[in-house]
Amino acid sequence: PGDPLVDRFGRVHRDLRISLTDRCSLRCTYCMPEQGNEWLARSSILTVDEIEQVARVAAASGITTFRLTGGEPLLRTDIVDVVRRLAAIRTPDGAPIDLAMTTNGIRLADLVGPLREAGLRRLNISIDTLRRDRFRHLTRRDRLGDVLDGIAAAAASGLRPLKLNAVAMRGINDDEIVDLVEFALAHDAQLRFIEQMPLDAGHTWDRSSMVTRAEILEALSARWRLTAVPGRGGAPAEKWTLDGGPATVGVIASVTAPFCGACDRLRLTADGQLRNCLFSTGEYDLVPALRGEPGTGDADGDAVPAGDAGPHPASDARIDAVLRACVAGKLPGHAIDDP
Ligand code: GTP
Ligand code: 5AD
Ligand code: SF4
Repeated sequence: PGDPLVDRFGRVHRDLRISLTDRCSLRCTYCMPEQGNEWLARSSILTVDEIEQVARVAAASGITTFRLTGGEPLLRTDIVDVVRRLAAIRTPDGAPIDLAMTTNGIRLADLVGPLREAGLRRLNISIDTLRRDRFRHLTRRDRLGDVLDGIAAAAASGLRPLKLNAVAMRGINDDEIVDLVEFALAHDAQLRFIEQMPLDAGHTWDRSSMVTRAEILEALSARWRLTAVPGRGGAPAEKWTLDGGPATVGVIASVTAPFCGACDRLRLTADGQLRNCLFSTGEYDLVPALRGEPGTGDADGDAVPAGDAGPHPASDARIDAVLRACVAGKLPGHAIDDP
């Protein structure tokens, strides 16, 4: 406990992506089927106390960034409380944690103020198109107006850097590449284009129809002079300045230029499973450590008391052991673009 989380390939883990719910207010075609997924039972979703405990143990071993994701994280009714509790966690040398969220923007207009007050530092918002009919088609919900309100509120909140994510799709939004960047610039935000990945339940992904990093750069180059910004580190996005900067644009080329070699991420699912890769199939179960299920309690076999947010030395040690097992099992990279 306390040692950095280093895997077999020397990658030091500093980023924990925390899924707060598997539910979502949209149904993006590249992500979910029309009827939604088979949702997790409410009772299996981690409580704010449980999330805090995992996050605290992770921070003790060198995790410095928590990113809240979903599903859609703002669907959690206790989202402001979750943020407040995670924002209070410190690194071993007493520094605050970098607390970020990725959201679809719905409800953000109402929530950005309270979230900021609770300690949220950064926001990434998904916006794939600026056209209402396309948005409705792509997300199967007529809610572009709510998303635009959310982005405007985020821009006004002063939280920076503000990032907007757009998955590039052929024949769907690939003619909006320049418009989306202009929209981001008008909100003092950075647009990041994402290569579509094979993550959809419907298995509609097709390597040949994917809009690639090269095509995105070509479309951008028609409008701006691009200069690569060095020093990507473990970040998924490569960045370029536009006409010499300071404004930048990003591309997340997870398929044609994966960043696996520098990956510093772990993921926590909404039901308490740790994963070492977005594409990993294996999970490392934290629930026995968190909920003290029969035969798996603390050193005396006692169940860990529920709803008690204080330190639990025995279950903390078990959470740490699961974190280390997860890191030890990490593979060098994904194989989604292998022939
Ligand atoms: P910051 O760089 O901290 O701002 O966040 P981020 O880009 O990591 O997070 P965000 O949630 O905005 O994700 C943007 C895109 O990167 C999404 O398409 C994610 O699916 C993709 N992404 C995030 N994490 C991973 C990862 O571990 N592996 C791969 N291949 N893609 C990822
Ligand atoms: N490929 C690429 N990006 C995806 N996202 C969701 N599904 C996919 C996919 N199949 C993006 C969302 C959001 C971010 C969290 O991940 O659009 O911006
Ligand atoms: Fe890391 Fe897996 Fe993402 Fe590759 S796909 S960058 S190995 S988490």
